[in-house]
Amino acid sequence: MKKFSVVIAGGGSTFTPGIVMMMLDNIDRFPMRELVLYDNDGERQAVLGEALEILLKEKAPDLKFSYTTDPKEAFTDKDFCMAHIRVGKYEMREKDEKIPLRHGVIGQETCGPGGIAYGMRSITGMLEIIDHMETYSPDCWMLNYSNPAAIVAEACRVLRPNSKVLNICDMPVGTLRRMSQIIGKDPQDLEVRYFGLNHFGWWTSVKDKEGHEYLDQIRDYVAENGYLTQVEVDTQHMDQSWQETHKKAKDLLAVNPRYLPNTYLKYYLYPDYEVAHSDRNYTRANEVMNGREKEVFSAARTIIETGTAIDGGFHIDSHASFIVDLARAIAFNTHERMLMIVENNGAIANFPDDAMVEVPCIVGNDGPEPLAQGKIPAFEQALMFQQVTVEKLVVEAYVEQSYQKLWQALTLSKTIPSAKVAKDILDDLIEANKDYWPELH
Ligand code: NAD
Ligand code: G6P
Ligand code: MN
Repeated sequence: MKKFSVVIAGGGSTFTPGIVMMMLDNIDRFPMRELVLYDNDGERQAVLGEALEILLKEKAPDLKFSYTTDPKEAFTDKDFCMAHIRVGKYEMREKDEKIPLRHGVIGQETCGPGGIAYGMRSITGMLEIIDHMETYSPDCWMLNYSNPAAIVAEACRVLRPNSKVLNICDMPVGTLRRMSQIIGKDPQDLEVRYFGLNHFGWWTSVKDKEGHEYLDQIRDYVAENGYLTQVEVDTQHMDQSWQETHKKAKDLLAVNPRYLPNTYLKYYLYPDYEVAHSDRNYTRANEVMNGREKEVFSAARTIIETGTAIDGGFHIDSHASFIVDLARAIAFNTHERMLMIVENNGAIANFPDDAMVEVPCIVGNDGPEPLAQGKIPAFEQALMFQQVTVEKLVVEAYVEQSYQKLWQALTLSKTIPSAKVAKDILDDLIEANKDYWPELH
């Protein structure tokens, strides 16, 4: 069987060890000959790189492994780039969350003004790694998790239309694991219909392979409990703030009982509640820095100090299963069905062709083929049109270096009450992002 050469871009990510552990666990299904970590912060990456070197010597001695900050070394002779970069790191995520909150507006990694600010930073970083990939391995595929995926996907559509970049999100996969637990099924045995934008969508069907529909059964459960399940179903989305998010799906369903909502809709449908329940001085970025980031990096340091990873430390991350399945679908032409962020082109019949939407696709070695989801109702369509226009305006603002368009993007966001508040937030964001954003005129 062919063996693949893989680069992980954003090698210093908190998710890198979990992805590597998942790939090791799947080495028979997705054989690898080489694995390289690439990051532009060599010091951060070296901690994980050194620990993984010890782990891989013990668990997969035949796998060639290295870590580097040199693009040529990293991207030469690669079949797949798994990307999860965070331009500006947690320091900037914290600002994305805290600046809007100071103005009484949602402060969130990917939604509202925080997501817009992050998008303006991410585009530059994404273009950089796409160009490295195409320079050194023109046939390589990039499987991209880097957020905000909606804005990144639109930027790829506009600025790198022919690049082999697939943008994906693990939230629907994680929520499907919860649904499967609610109905006592294996997630592998479920097939869904779904439409929306990234972090902005709805399930219209959840069936088993025999064609039995579970939508009503899941809806009854979610109406009471949201997606909160009884037992731990996951390795991520488990902190208390995530439990609140799973629970809030109950209120999302109440306003729109027809379909099962993506949890991220809470930032658009209940922004006042979310702001009232946020701590302006301690946001999700602080939770993650004091939680996942500390855990992962201290596990790495322990491995380095003891010189062995036999006693654990790093854990398989369920978030990573999607990326392995996707790599397999392309490598082995499996035609597996999975949700992807793709150009609409009629998949949602009554939505613009050039919108980047999230829909089920059949994935083979030519990439994703979107499945038609038909016409969607006016309520969802109108919400989506507002949001997709925000995302398009952000990319236009980036390309044209337009203050006006970014102000419009913020003004249009359902999370912001007025053009005045949008401008106040924008001016603060410009100041905070001056090392990252293109200059706006
Ligand atoms: P992190 O800060 O721990 O890791 C990101 C790494 O990217 C850092 O080591 C940083 O130095 C590096 N980096 C930044 N800019 C770079 C560039 N231009 N080139 C190379 N490396 C660069 O962040 P994290 O919490 O582990 O998350 C990583 C990314 O994955 C984020 O974008 C996050 O939003 C995303 N993510 C997405 C999904 C999804 O559903 N799509 C799920 C989980 C995480
Ligand atoms: C989900 C989303 C990702 C997002 C992540 C944030 O998995 O799909 O897009 O990056 O949550 O999780 P965190 O634990 O970093 O807040
Ligand atoms: Mn996501």
